[in-house]
Amino acid sequence: MGRVFVAGSINMDVVATAERHPRVGETVAGSAVLYFPGGKGANQAVAAAKLGAPTTLIGRLGKDAFGEQLRTFLAAQGVDLDFVKDTAEAHTGTAIITVANADNTIVVVPGANALVSPEDVTAPVFARDDVVVSQLEIPQRAILAVFRRATQVRATTILNVAPAMEVDDELLTLVKILVLNESELSFLAGTDLRDCDDPARFVEAARSLGRKDRIVCVTLGKRGVLAVVRGQPLFVAGRPVKVADTTGAGDCFVGALAASIARQAAFRDALYLANVAASVCVQRMGAAPSMPTPAEVEAAMVAGLAN
Ligand code: RIB
Repeated sequence: MGRVFVAGSINMDVVATAERHPRVGETVAGSAVLYFPGGKGANQAVAAAKLGAPTTLIGRLGKDAFGEQLRTFLAAQGVDLDFVKDTAEAHTGTAIITVANADNTIVVVPGANALVSPEDVTAPVFARDDVVVSQLEIPQRAILAVFRRATQVRATTILNVAPAMEVDDELLTLVKILVLNESELSFLAGTDLRDCDDPARFVEAARSLGRKDRIVCVTLGKRGVLAVVRGQPLFVAGRPVKVADTTGAGDCFVGALAASIARQAAFRDALYLANVAASVCVQRMGAAPSMPTPAEVEAAMVAGLAN
């Protein structure tokens, strides 16, 4: 079995719940303030570790109370933190999130995440069966350095293009599996996509990013996931569930996909499992604490087969 390495962000999510999102310039009364471990990198690492993959996180925390709480939480989830540095130069990454009607808006203040450097990623030693994952909440030069090293040993690289931004050309060439949501796909493919669009438009846009043998996965929320593998579309339908909070659902998908690939699962099976895992995640509040156990994913899969 391979291992999962996640180079990425670690945040404390400060969540306000409200009946609806405020409009610009408006104040609305909220109902609760909640603190959840989060950050796309940490969420993905927790998802992979909880699903049984030996998982190492590479990143930075501030030397502060949030940093201590996050370190304790992540260690308890079984994530190896040997390559998570404490840094006195910046505070721990913090996300200010509003959740209303199960939808969220997020402002991320990167703090220590912005200081992750190419030097931080030189210590871990990768092997051919490993899966090396990143997202865009740490500097791209650090991601480039870690993917260069992963590619040298032919490990699988997964880049989650979140949040949407321009991606360095060389970095893109090193990506084996690209994971994005609809708006990130619109941005990267340079085309305007809407929920109501013909699925063929999504396939076309995903195909435009799938150079050589790169796989492109597009998460479509409650509609499921689309993957384009060697130019061919593969669609897995979403599971109808009662959604509490979608924060971290995409990260759950990425972490679960990485864990399955590290276990040498066939890609179609990995895609199916990751889609189910994300559907379990959205039924709970919070990001990292919502990542499912193998038993929960198994139960959801069995329930899906029975329907
Ligand atoms: O993808 C969800 C995550 O985005 C949150 O946990 C928040 O920290 C931001 O990084």
